Order: sequence, then structure tokens, then C-alpha cells
Amino acid sequence: MALRAMTSRNTLTNARLGLGFLQSRSLQTFTLPDLSYEYGALEPAISGDIMQIHHQKHHQTYVTNYNKALEQLEDAMAKGDAPSVAKLQSAITFNGGGHLNHSIFWKNLTPVSHGGGEPPHGSLGWAIDANFGSLKALMKKMNAEGAALQGSGWVWLGLDTGFKRLVIETTPNQDPLVTKGANLIPLLGIDVWEHAYYLQYKNVRPDYLNNIWKVINWKYASELYEKECPTERT
Ligand SMILES: [Fe+2]
Repeated sequence: MALRAMTSRNTLTNARLGLGFLQSRSLQTFTLPDLSYEYGALEPAISGDIMQIHHQKHHQTYVTNYNKALEQLEDAMAKGDAPSVAKLQSAITFNGGGHLNHSIFWKNLTPVSHGGGEPPHGSLGWAIDANFGSLKALMKKMNAEGAALQGSGWVWLGLDTGFKRLVIETTPNQDPLVTKGANLIPLLGIDVWEHAYYLQYKNVRPDYLNNIWKVINWKYASELYEKECPTERT
């Protein structure tokens, strides 16, 4: 399988736009990333069963289908099969987005023993206060938007690199945050698909949203913020 080497986001964007796959190729497929913690390490906020199935089954399926769709896309492009190229776009967006979003999500979580739930310090903490009033207000707003999202999707804390400000957005299905704006960088994404919480919380999404904050890795989000927005540092 010959796929062009690039980041997940660039592949997703270029695939959607039908750009450049024939210009530079190397052997690369996307793979399921390892977690930096055990499946049960986020309990009681998120059960080990949920984490294992979510990672090994759901995320793996996105990766498998993403690679498959990209392989089919390359074949279609090599044949000049424009209808097939067009037909593959939705599968690439869905599965590529699923892979990208979950890869971020695992990093947004960490056990309490490793700082999970510890409020952000430094420039991100100041930016949250400036944009939303307080961390508590941010959490309340993200919980409300995540609970109100119809069907499956994600609620995001993003950084608008153009305006240097934090934003809260939701995306349906597996659409990545960049679909809401080319300048948006995801700092924190919360998966509100039922597969992320149903085994433990049944249909009570608000309870899942209330508890996930106990294992949010604000250190990771803070590092991303400071890397993307160094002028905000004080
Ligand atoms: Fe998920």
C-alpha cells in the first residue's frame, strides 16, 4: 500500500481537496497510537472497559477504514476515475477525522495520579479567565454545548490562531475542529459519542461530561497553547 507521507490533518485536507497524491509517495499507513496510561487508570471517571473498547475497537476501526479509503483513493486517482475519487471523500473525512480526533482525545486525558483534573497554570489559565471568566465557567459552557449536541460529535476548546483567542465549538460525527475554521487548533476535545460513555453512564451524557473533567490533562493543553501562542505568555 503506497500512501503519501504527511500528517493526518494534511492528508485529510488534501484528500478532501483532491490534492497532490500522485506527486510524492512513500510507504506509510496510519496506525493506532498507544495510550500513555492503562485502560483502568482513569477510573472511576471513565471505566477501563470503556477505554479498552473505545481504543481497541472504535479507534482501530477508524484507522483501518482510513487506510483502506486512502488506498482506494490512490488507485482511483491513478486510473483517473473521478466518480470514485468523489465517492471516497466522505469515508476519508469520517475515518480520517475519527483517527485524528481520537488521537487528540487520548492525550487530553490522564490519570488523577498524573495530574488529571489539575487546573491549567500559566498562560492558558490566564487566557481561559480572560475569555470565559473562569475555568468553572468554561467547563459549564462546554458541558452545556456537549449535552445539547444532537446525535454524535465532539465539543472542543480551540485556539483561533488568527485572533489569538480561545473558542468553544462543536462538530458533528467525526468532523475535526479545522472544519469550523482553518485557523482553529484543538487544545481539548471531548468525545460525546455514546460509545465514549454508554457502558458506564447509560444515556446520561451530562453525568459523563461532569466527571470527565476529573481526568482532563490540562498540562497537555497548556503546552499546546504556549507552543501555538507564545506571545500570550506572561
Ligand atoms: Fe470515540
